[in-house]
Amino acid sequence: MVFDVIYYEDCIENISKRIDENSIDLIIADPPFGISFDGKGSQYNRKSEFVVKGYSEITREDYFEFSKGWIKAIYPVLKETGSAYIISGWTNLKDILIAIDEAGFTTQNHIIWKYQFGVFTKRKFVTSHYHILFLVKNPKKYFFNKVDHYPEDVWEIKREYLPGEKKNSTKLPNELVEKLLKYSSKENDLVLDPFMGNGTTAVACIKLNRKYVGFEINPNAKDIIDMNISKAKELV
Ligand SMILES: C[S@@+](CC[C@H](N)C(=O)[O-])C[C@H]1O[C@@H](n2cnc3c(N)ncnc32)[C@H](O)[C@@H]1O
Repeated sequence: MVFDVIYYEDCIENISKRIDENSIDLIIADPPFGISFDGKGSQYNRKSEFVVKGYSEITREDYFEFSKGWIKAIYPVLKETGSAYIISGWTNLKDILIAIDEAGFTTQNHIIWKYQFGVFTKRKFVTSHYHILFLVKNPKKYFFNKVDHYPEDVWEIKREYLPGEKKNSTKLPNELVEKLLKYSSKENDLVLDPFMGNGTTAVACIKLNRKYVGFEINPNAKDIIDMNISKAKELV
């Protein structure tokens, strides 16, 4: 099986054609939110010239079927010793939680990621957190590198502010992805990101000496991901 590749213009639903069963050590999945986010968003006060077109969003009505489809599809490729992290907002969280149970994963933790720059609200609280679901295939066999003595399940990690840099969709902070890699993988392990976006997982893998494989359906994301990967390789 090949690694350090991204299947561009291909969707995670095709994973069984590309990736062997029981071959992946860690999955980091940051799917579309299903909130009609167009990637350019007034919601995020972004300048549209810095956001690539073609962000693939899922409607609220389709979100449950979409979630069941890709979560079921990733389960067979994970090793018995492997783990998966799924990042989700609260609005469609119930769809993700049901899909996780139906696919057969065991949930080990429900981590809260607290960030800054929540969207301003007038008559309700500002949402400033995401859920990170820590899943395993086999609770008796999964790998866990206990980096800290007392690792709590609420993580305060700042979103990166990257003015003037072109982005594809939302981007996870490098610090967050590196933390997931350090706790749940070893050097040379193979990490899958079904929704590459800006290639953040690939960049973290290059820095921490892990192998990666991923999918990104938006053809316009290729240049950004390739550029981020080249920059990361220059630094190692
Ligand atoms: C929330 S973003 C991921 C951001 C990424 N974690 C990062 O830090 O840059 C979700 C990405 O999934 C892509 N996508 C949506 N549906 C997909 C599918 N079925 N297969 C593969 N990629 C998909 C979107 O185009 C978008 O780039």
